[in-house]
Amino acid sequence: MIRQSPPIDLSKPYDAAWVKDKTILITGGASGFGAGFVRRWAENGATVIVGDINVAKGDALVRQIQKETGNQRVNFVHCDVTDWQSQVNLFKEAVKLSPHGGIDTVVANAGIAGPDPMQKPTDLSAAEPPKPDFKIMDVNCTGVLYTTHLAYYWLPKNPNSTACSMDSDPSKQPRDRHLLLLGSIASLAAIAAQPQYGAAKHAVLGLFRSLRATSSLQGVRINLVCPYFIDTPIIPPSIRVVLAGAGTGKVEDVVDAGTRFVADSRILGRALVVGPKLNVKQSHEGEWELVARSTPGSHETALWEAYADDWEEVEAFSRGIVRLLNAYQVSRGWVGWATDVVKAVAYGFGFGR
Ligand SMILES: NC(=O)c1ccc[n+]([C@@H]2O[C@H](COP(=O)([O-])OP(=O)(O)OC[C@H]3O[C@@H](n4cnc5c(N)ncnc54)[C@H](O)[C@@H]3O)[C@@H](O)[C@H]2O)c1
Repeated sequence: MIRQSPPIDLSKPYDAAWVKDKTILITGGASGFGAGFVRRWAENGATVIVGDINVAKGDALVRQIQKETGNQRVNFVHCDVTDWQSQVNLFKEAVKLSPHGGIDTVVANAGIAGPDPMQKPTDLSAAEPPKPDFKIMDVNCTGVLYTTHLAYYWLPKNPNSTACSMDSDPSKQPRDRHLLLLGSIASLAAIAAQPQYGAAKHAVLGLFRSLRATSSLQGVRINLVCPYFIDTPIIPPSIRVVLAGAGTGKVEDVVDAGTRFVADSRILGRALVVGPKLNVKQSHEGEWELVARSTPGSHETALWEAYADDWEEVEAFSRGIVRLLNAYQVSRGWVGWATDVVKAVAYGFGFGR
């Protein structure tokens, strides 16, 4: 059922100018990746609506970008993504500010990290543990669910947009229906000392993988960016110390990955990991090796496609269990299907409960 375009050929350039005349709504656009995205898209002629909780930073950024680029269609709207009504207002405001009365791309970017009560030593002498602060889940998971729910309301209503297709021509058709999610390397791997962050970003991956199975019903395309540690204000000094010696990535590479997704409307249901720029070569078995620049057949990249094909490159256990379950379904055949349908209808009438 997954309506996915083929793996992205990262050696092929895209044109950032394809974002021209698109209306893009971004949450958490006042800082870090968000600020980088807004600048790039404004330079290329998009209308951008930044929704962020930080009014001073968001307002100053928008004014500065307007001045630098001459693009006055860059707007700031206060929004707290954890507040449903605040997000409803942001989307309504974006539609009002849009020159064509619709939204082409929604970027669910707002996120936080920080001290996690689940990592604090519990006071075992207390009669009961105090209610924990789950703000990281509220922003990085519930906030993203709200943004996604609103995106699936507004994107299909985008005037003159059609169902997304990998055969579209991004140079000719600025109208789009696109949701871009910000996951993380923590969507794919464990992140020590940040369990809430890890849980929330795994949730974003689950959201992406589940929604792209049905997204074609609304004609919406959905993609995901999973950055490794990148130098932005979200990384506190303590984590910077922990990360000492490890390479971090660059905001410009995240902006590159996000802009490719936003600009190229032919990309459906894909995920890109962004890390430090490395010179790599892929072995015949598909393993990536870090090699010297002079190595023939090697190239430098900061972007990797995650799950280029879900059932070929996904981890061995998932692949094995999915294959087994599919084989079982095939072995049960139409008789198994019909039996289950009869049982389901009977269950609806109260039998077998
Ligand atoms: N920097 C990294 O290493 C890294 C790695 C992987 C994923 N990410 C993800 O990328 C996204 C952007 O992060 P960043 O690195 O640019 O961080 P950042 O701190 O520079 O920017 C995050 C923005 O979100 C805003 N925000 C926070 N809470 C909000 C709320 N309740 N409502 C609205 N806006 C809110 C902040 O004001 C800020 O402008 C986040 O989802 C983050 O989890 C970052």
